[in-house]
Amino acid sequence: MALLEVKDLQVYYGVIQALRGISFEVNEGEIVTLIGANGAGKTTTMQSIMGLIPARHGSVVYDGHDITKMPCHEIVHLGMAQVPEGRRVFQELTVQENLLMGAYTQKDKARIKADIEEIYEQYFPRLGERRSQIAGTLSGGEQQMLAMGRAMMCHPRLLMLDEPSMGLSPLLVDFVFDMIKNFNKNGTTILLVEQNAGKSLAISDRAYVLENGRIALSGTGAELMESEEIQKAYLGG
Ligand SMILES: Nc1ncnc2c1ncn2[C@@H]1O[C@H](COP(=O)(O)OP(=O)(O)OP(=O)(O)O)[C@@H](O)[C@H]1O
Ligand SMILES: [Mg+2]
Repeated sequence: MALLEVKDLQVYYGVIQALRGISFEVNEGEIVTLIGANGAGKTTTMQSIMGLIPARHGSVVYDGHDITKMPCHEIVHLGMAQVPEGRRVFQELTVQENLLMGAYTQKDKARIKADIEEIYEQYFPRLGERRSQIAGTLSGGEQQMLAMGRAMMCHPRLLMLDEPSMGLSPLLVDFVFDMIKNFNKNGTTILLVEQNAGKSLAISDRAYVLENGRIALSGTGAELMESEEIQKAYLGG
């Protein structure tokens, strides 16, 4: 059984249909990417899975639970977390306070403290050096690290990231993709949404190409990288 199974998902904004029946699955331990151009429906898919935008039709099953109509906070308790588009962090709060907010599903104070230290040590030493800095004054790359660190605070079994590489310098893009690989190596299943097809296909077990609210193509990361269609449309080849 897949960890996440999305079946014929249809989402509307008013009378406009943004998702025209999306079906895909993510198996435990995988990195799966949805790639697609602006407006293809990537963010809508993620927000709908997370219970933030209602589905008009179709279903989302996570770890055997039908979560199609479940509110977001309950979904988080099932072990799913997301890093939303635009790396939203609490601008007025410090780095440390932002990480604390990510632990709201946890109760054990000592454990939370240890988790924060682990985020600093294991993944983002740069955040450790800036633990008292107000998040709004961090650089774009540092804010992305913080958004990722905060999502990891609830020990998600499935982590979804919406265009984590957007607007970052090439060096930081590589860093972010390395970090996603690290999270995955340490046991977190990943659903990634990206326009950066080259980098994301390179780290993906499987991927789906989203076009105008539909899945146009799917395959392993390696297969899609070789595909002529993908080369032309997304890899400038
Ligand atoms: N709140 C909204 N109201 C109306 N239409 C919306 C809304 N949000 C998104 N849409 C439309 O739904 C479609 C899918 O948008 P979505 O944000 O999911 O695309 P995306 O693949 O994430 O694009 P991008 O790469 O630019 O982030 C687009 O045509 C968009 O204009
Ligand atoms: Mg988007």
